[in-house]
Amino acid sequence: MTVATAPTFTYRHVPATDAARPPLLLLHGTGGDENDLIPLGQMIAPGAAIVSPRGKVLENGMPRFFRRLAEGVFDHADVVRRANELGDFIAEARERHGLAAPIAVGFSNGANIAAALLLLRPEALAGAVLIRAMVPLADVPKASLSAKPVLMLTGAMDPIIPEANAMQLAAQFEAAGARVEHEVLPAGHNLTQTDIRLARDWLAAQGG
Ligand code: MLT
Repeated sequence: MTVATAPTFTYRHVPATDAARPPLLLLHGTGGDENDLIPLGQMIAPGAAIVSPRGKVLENGMPRFFRRLAEGVFDHADVVRRANELGDFIAEARERHGLAAPIAVGFSNGANIAAALLLLRPEALAGAVLIRAMVPLADVPKASLSAKPVLMLTGAMDPIIPEANAMQLAAQFEAAGARVEHEVLPAGHNLTQTDIRLARDWLAAQGG
């Protein structure tokens, strides 16, 4: 007998009130939880179903989606393991709630795990909005993102993510065939009103 070890996450599910919109997978930043981005999700894609998991890694009590050795220095083996675990969770949640492939909306650490997921398990997501993302993987797999839509929102004054690093991530997605829109905003690491407006307009243009 095989015992299935389901990679369970603590998460929130908000059912759709507008079935035409693709579901959102909300991925919070360091120290956030499954509740954090729900208001953002509802603002940028009103009526969309939401699945919002809590990162399982604790850094001084703060939830994250993978281990890091220092700020901006990642445990790459853990990134790969956790991205795959999240990919399995998405498949499970889709089945449980009858959902189409979601568009990830990730902020900071959540954007980084979404970026890893896109490159490692492209079939898990229909697209992604990556707010303050950086290169998450040491070895970039030969992924085929076949015109998957990706919006990257980078802060020109972000003290954590050099603009060149975000550019490198955009180039990795483009090399894999994604349809990337990359905006560099006059912002730091924190979320701004411009991020919200651009994410909302981009999602509306995707039919989401
Ligand atoms: C990360 O660890 O993913 C990035 O440094 C962003 C952060 O969470 O501060």
